[in-house]
Amino acid sequence: MARTSLMAGNWKMNLNHVEATGLVQKLAWTLADAKYDPALSEAAVIVPFTDIRTVQTLVEGDKLPLKFGAQDVSVHASGAYTGEVSADMLAKLNCSYVVVGHSERREYHGETDELIGAKAKVVFEAGMTPIICCGEVLEIRKQGTHVEHVLGQVEDCLAPLTAEQVAASVIAYEPVWAIGTGEVATPEDAQEVCGAIRGYVTDTFGAAAGEAVRIQYGGSVKASNVVEIMAQPDVDGALVGGASLNADEFAKIVMYYAAG
Ligand code: PGA
Repeated sequence: MARTSLMAGNWKMNLNHVEATGLVQKLAWTLADAKYDPALSEAAVIVPFTDIRTVQTLVEGDKLPLKFGAQDVSVHASGAYTGEVSADMLAKLNCSYVVVGHSERREYHGETDELIGAKAKVVFEAGMTPIICCGEVLEIRKQGTHVEHVLGQVEDCLAPLTAEQVAASVIAYEPVWAIGTGEVATPEDAQEVCGAIRGYVTDTFGAAAGEAVRIQYGGSVKASNVVEIMAQPDVDGALVGGASLNADEFAKIVMYYAAG
């Protein structure tokens, strides 16, 4: 079964809803001009909560070939959780994807693998797809234990999910030392860990899940390095931060298949 690649632009805490309109429109025009084919590479924007309704209106109103989603979700269904946003609220806005366990959530909000796994579960239960993030910090990479470390994260994050849910998941491998630093992992570094993740999924959840699960690389992905990263057999897309804030650059990343 061929996996459709997924290029997801994680805007982080950038662009208010007015600015979001400008970027989404420019991205859509740029992709249309370049004759983008969504069957060859899926494009998604992962936007701040306050932008979602605006992006939904644009995408649905103008039938744009873009998916959209959120950067986090509450693990709770409803109730006295001031400041949180539930999976059902995001599903009601027709979000396709929800990022869970981004390294910035792990670092600044103390999110654990167990919490991230529980968030992935509520995302599925609401009918959306989680993009489950994992990745090692620089010290772990220097010790050479990055593969075991990441597989440990993946094991705990996937534990609450069924084999069917794992098959439908997106896992984003983002070495923390490569995020926002300009320091990109080599294509071989990306393949080493993405291949190990697929191997773990196959061994634990079966061959069908291993074949189907989509594994992204993230960390300083740009138009100039995306092609060689995407040439790796176990890399099915990219989670893109900084470069997704520029419509021309992100359009080139989405259309990596047309480069050269
Ligand atoms: P970056 O961010 O592309 O700016 O390195 C990636 C991410 O944090 O998802």
